[in-house]
Amino acid sequence: MKHLTDIGALSDQEITSILSRALAYDEAVEKREDIGAPLAGRIQFNLFYENSTRTSLSFDLAGRKMGLEVVNVPVAASSIHKGESLRDTVLTLCAQGADAMVLRASGAGSIDAAKSAIKSAGFETRVINAGEGAFGHPTQALLDAATLLKAHHRKAEEGLDGLTISIIGDLSHSRVAASCSKLFARMGATVRLCAPEDLLPVWKSEDAAMVTTSRDEAIKDADVVMALRIQTERFGDELPLDPQVYRSDYGLSMEALSFAKPAAFVMHPGPMNRGVEIDNDVADDQSISLILQQVAMGVPLRMAVLAELFDL
Ligand code: CP
Repeated sequence: MKHLTDIGALSDQEITSILSRALAYDEAVEKREDIGAPLAGRIQFNLFYENSTRTSLSFDLAGRKMGLEVVNVPVAASSIHKGESLRDTVLTLCAQGADAMVLRASGAGSIDAAKSAIKSAGFETRVINAGEGAFGHPTQALLDAATLLKAHHRKAEEGLDGLTISIIGDLSHSRVAASCSKLFARMGATVRLCAPEDLLPVWKSEDAAMVTTSRDEAIKDADVVMALRIQTERFGDELPLDPQVYRSDYGLSMEALSFAKPAAFVMHPGPMNRGVEIDNDVADDQSISLILQQVAMGVPLRMAVLAELFDL
């Protein structure tokens, strides 16, 4: 594997290998073990055209733990604001010695375009998709799968067979749901998608066993319920919903969760709109909420991706 641009581009063997490495690195990180900087001497550029807390910081930490020299491109202070294109920016970083390029961008196809430009210019730089518009967020899906494996005490090879996973929220803008539904179904889970009519997915939802506008139908007997953020920044001037009506019809409350299996877990990729798509008591109940575990898994999972990309 030379790049990680899309979940669909990974083989089953690569998925299992990344998840297996992530669970091993997770143990090492928890025990604060020194893993010996296996990628020392290489350079990683983090180039984020959209804001991020979890993904950018965990890629930064993951790179450093693996021994890479990590450079976080200061986009707001860069020549991007003089009109430099994504292509020219990426090639500039390659010319400065990038071995890995972690890229978050808005436009459809921008990650593949960067990869093609890098290849055409003769660079060997590995490209990692750190979130592309509404289209894909492969490392989030992988870290969510690793979090579920850990929570269910399973090895990577055991997959997610027998689990029903309901993903509820702003599917129309959710790169997380696009990648998670593909990956979870591929790993054997039954995936259900739920949103109000106006927020149903723009991407193909053929991996889902159910697409519904009814939250209660989606949650019934589910093993895992993932809430998605209402992406207010992507709606333009007018939000086409009332947050309190949304909470009542689609929010994750303890009452709504009572339809799920008794030991069901709750997930959210973050950041959360508390009191809209998820109530405080649900998000903060450490007996059911995996939200902080998802954040924690971001580091070992991204270490695993780097290991896989550089054939460790
Ligand atoms: N889940 C996620 O991508 O969060 P950030 O936008 O904070 O990176």
